[in-house]
Amino acid sequence: MPETNNSLPMHIAVIMDGNGRWAAARSLPRSAGHREGAKAVRRTLEAARDMGIKYLTLYAFSTENWTRPQEEIHTLMQLLERTLDEYQKSAQKEDYRILISGERSRLPAGTLAKMDALVRSTAQNKGLTVNLALNYGARQEITRAVNQILKEGLAEVTPQDIARRLYQPEIPDPELIIRTSGEERLSNFLLWQAAYSEFYFTPVLWPDFNKEELQKAVDAYRARKRRFGGI
Ligand code: IPE
Ligand code: IPE
Ligand code: MG
Repeated sequence: MPETNNSLPMHIAVIMDGNGRWAAARSLPRSAGHREGAKAVRRTLEAARDMGIKYLTLYAFSTENWTRPQEEIHTLMQLLERTLDEYQKSAQKEDYRILISGERSRLPAGTLAKMDALVRSTAQNKGLTVNLALNYGARQEITRAVNQILKEGLAEVTPQDIARRLYQPEIPDPELIIRTSGEERLSNFLLWQAAYSEFYFTPVLWPDFNKEELQKAVDAYRARKRRFGGI
């Protein structure tokens, strides 16, 4: 009897890596790679929605990315604000529900206001849920949950107690995590939620990512055999 394939993943998480190398290969400044990366984000949202994916988490800025040169951080924050403005206009039509995961500290007040407005105005949308990981670190996320538990005075914790206090407790764990640019590591992304995720690594640089590449990742996922510790 043929093996049955996995069904379509509900939740895909993406480590969007390789903007800098994409630019360097063209003798362009890193900022050009980030701009091109923002276009790849737009393409990927459309492709994921059209495929019927329910949740898409995108790693946009890590808690460790603050160690980059001030100028690059500035470019990334500017690009982020512009993207938020753009989605404020298009998210309703596209039926995207936007969520944001990460620490609010260190983000500029203007950016926070735009983030909050976008989350609020798309809360009722029923299409693709886009979870933007921004100033995100998984160790920080887990530590925050534990501190919340301590404040609440629980004497003993279960895995469910921790899971319920992560940034997005209602989103299922990602079945599939994609990382572009040939790097094969998590870089402090979804350490808790990735316990049983399937990983897909591709040498494609993030600015070159598109619908076909997403389809390849999903096809690879569907052919995997998931066992969850069983036989
Ligand atoms: C990913 O591209 C974008 C962010 C991490 C913000 P990089 O900027 O890490 O690109 P590389 O890894 O230097 O090529
Ligand atoms: C991971 O990429 C973070 C994001 C994609 C936002 P990095 O480029 O920061 O990761 P490392 O430094 O190569 O591990
Ligand atoms: Mg990188």
